[in-house]
Amino acid sequence: MAEKEAQGLKSILKDMVVAKTSLLYLVTEEDRRVEGEIKSLAAAFKPPLRTYVWACTTGVTLEDEMVLPNPSIMDALDWFMNLNETAFLLINDVHVFLRDNPPVIRKLKDASKRIEHTYKTIFLISPVLEIPPEIQSDVVLVDVPLPSPDEIEKIVEKVISREKYRDHLKAALTDEARDLFIKAGAGLTSQQVQQAFRKVLSGKHGISAQDIDLLFEEKRQIVRKSGLLELFTQPMEFDHLGGFGTLKKWLFMRHDIFSKRAREYGLSFPKGVLMMGISGCGKSLCVKAIAAFWRLPLLRLDMGRVYDGIQGSPEECLRKVIKTAEASAPCVLWIDEIEAGIANASQKSLGGSASRVLATFLTWMQEKTSPVFIGATANNIELLPPEILRKGRFDELFYVELPSDTDRMEIIRIHLARKNVPLNLFDYTPLVKVTEGFNGAEIEQGVIGALFRAFSENRDVTQNDLYIALESIVPLSTTMKEEIKKLERWAFNRALRAGGDSK
Ligand SMILES: Nc1ncnc2c1ncn2[C@@H]1O[C@H](COP(=O)(O)OP(=O)(O)OP(=O)(O)O)[C@@H](O)[C@H]1O
Ligand SMILES: [Mg+2]
Repeated sequence: MAEKEAQGLKSILKDMVVAKTSLLYLVTEEDRRVEGEIKSLAAAFKPPLRTYVWACTTGVTLEDEMVLPNPSIMDALDWFMNLNETAFLLINDVHVFLRDNPPVIRKLKDASKRIEHTYKTIFLISPVLEIPPEIQSDVVLVDVPLPSPDEIEKIVEKVISREKYRDHLKAALTDEARDLFIKAGAGLTSQQVQQAFRKVLSGKHGISAQDIDLLFEEKRQIVRKSGLLELFTQPMEFDHLGGFGTLKKWLFMRHDIFSKRAREYGLSFPKGVLMMGISGCGKSLCVKAIAAFWRLPLLRLDMGRVYDGIQGSPEECLRKVIKTAEASAPCVLWIDEIEAGIANASQKSLGGSASRVLATFLTWMQEKTSPVFIGATANNIELLPPEILRKGRFDELFYVELPSDTDRMEIIRIHLARKNVPLNLFDYTPLVKVTEGFNGAEIEQGVIGALFRAFSENRDVTQNDLYIALESIVPLSTTMKEEIKKLERWAFNRALRAGGDSK
């Protein structure tokens, strides 16, 4: 089974029709958009071709006129095989009719053979990828891409042209606003884009900054409803990350990497990094900081959801995620605790869909050319399969340690500053000393504890409050000495230390 994935759906389909591919399987939830594209492709042939559409409720129709009223899919295929005309046939919801249905599968094979040397083409359309093994070699799979920036731009224009105050809105759609609309629409289906744009523009005379915020909020909701991804448009402030000297240097060296200048220089987009280390040391925070550093949207993938089966098969979920991430590019795709999903799943069903998911993911990582940066985190490196760590997958593996003295001072200051406490009130030397072995999360917890104490006594926070609050915390590292040592041994030679001032 061959597979095609590219920008413009119509041009992909055209290439295939011209190559006399007889059976195309299109995975899409946007059957109307796809039908429109296929019809417009048919109309572009010389002479124009007809597009017949089959659905179980209507039989075969042409431009909504009944051609073959009999609703049986077998009869429709028979009819098309024998039709003395070069034409397209669209079959909707095909997966339902292929499920445990040997006669239909056989009939499709026969039809494919009969039309193989002609431009006659059967388009099988389905929201899910379910191709029975018997016809996998006869079918070419097309993963329908989400709307391109050009298509999104056309949607904005169309939505505006239907609005009451269209002239005002047209004037308000500056180049800058246009870009923001395209950004907001990236990664959504055309229906979702349309709905979001309509909701924001309906009844408006102009486009304000609030409307744009509303648009991104709308997008966030839509992405969240998909159940697999969560979108953060402004993940955090980059300078809220304390320590991580090496990682920061690594980033500074690449600050301009998404620019045209970098591409012209011959540099390719970085693929991603994997952050490993014990809990609470700021791995997740680093990924957010990376997105903030490049000012890119951050998409968080819930790996557990990929495997739990609620949103469809794991493979399908991953395909959806990849599609959304690529359409949203440039972006950061955050895969938190990557080992949990992969390890559990491969234990449950070795050789099954879990390993296929991993294989799909790794191939994508290796081959992807779109600017999707992967920020993955892992706590338990022993569960990670070696192939994920191999060179060429991630640009860098970072080992996250407990923060050093200087790092702890910086982290204490960051959390005080975040609560608007003046920083010059404190002597940091004893605070750094008492937090030996603390992770960032524990330091944050101590600072907040001190603030609560001062607040309950209705006064400003003092050195003493801080010292007492921090001293009372028993750091996780005291009970995890063995584990930390094991991790350090593993990371030595394999990973780069994310902290420190670095070379
Ligand atoms: N280097 C740091 N600078 C500032 N704050 C930090 C730092 N490290 C940790 N923190 C604080 O601790 C919180 C928890 O950190 P984070 O969730 O990133 O840790 P983690 O390594 O991902 O932990 P887990 O493995 O449990 O997911 C952060 O939200 C942040 O407030
Ligand atoms: Mg985390």
